Amino acid sequence: MWSFHKWFERHSLILIVGILLVVSIGGLVQITPLFFIESTIERVDGVRPYTPLELAGRRVYIREGCYVCHSQMIRPLRDEVERYGHYSLAAESMYDHPFQWGSKRSGPDLARVGGRYSDEWHRAHLVDPRSVVPESVMPPYAFLANADVDATQMDDHVRTNRLLNVPYTDEQLANAETDALAQAQPMGEHAFDFEQRYPGVAVRDFDGNPERVTEMDALIAYLQMLGTGVDFNAYQADTPENRR
Ligand code: HEC
Repeated sequence: MWSFHKWFERHSLILIVGILLVVSIGGLVQITPLFFIESTIERVDGVRPYTPLELAGRRVYIREGCYVCHSQMIRPLRDEVERYGHYSLAAESMYDHPFQWGSKRSGPDLARVGGRYSDEWHRAHLVDPRSVVPESVMPPYAFLANADVDATQMDDHVRTNRLLNVPYTDEQLANAETDALAQAQPMGEHAFDFEQRYPGVAVRDFDGNPERVTEMDALIAYLQMLGTGVDFNAYQADTPENRR
């Protein structure tokens, strides 16, 4: 047995071939089952596509590099579930292009931050994190409150998402630009139409400034919906035990 091993260790080419062989068997064992199970993403109720304003907020999130310090994926480990809530389901990020799971946590996971704080809290925190969390090392993003949301590209953005199989209707696509502004203007003329197109979605002035629809509106609208889709009191994992 050991003399056989010596032979591998002395000839690098044979070792490489051996490694490739072992790695490909391992790879096949992991990947092949995915082609035979019915679906790799379990369908759950409540997950919906982002509204145009949330999509705009998501773009701010990516542009500002929030993912550098924040993950959006709660792992099924006891300490994480106790701190953040139910572990993340694959379906909860099925409309995320690109996904924001992240890989570094200088700050807390944000997968379920939606509804945890008020809009005022987010506003104060984004303008000056240390005003609400004195020991925070998060940088301030006060300038977002002075930048108008750029709604002009929203239809392209929604169309691109539709290309990637996010189920936006023709009507949602055609009205993407007005809907992006309508969600932050509850008294505006398009608020009612918006509510028809996105039933049950919050329409309010997220940044506390009714005069303008800013990137602060968009970012807070996005943060406030994170992780709020699935009702975990009613949710049952699709496991063989539960199916019985
Ligand atoms: C340099 C790292 C860093 C960056 C970049 C960063 N954050 Fe943070 N964030 C933190 C830290 C640390 C905390 C925890 C302390 C606090 O609440 O301020 C935090 C907390 C938060 C919280 C509160 C989470 C909770 O559950 O209490 C939110 C929401 C948040 N950040 C959003 C953002 C957004 C949105 C961006 C991008 C615009 C961003 N962060 C960028 C480090 C960062």
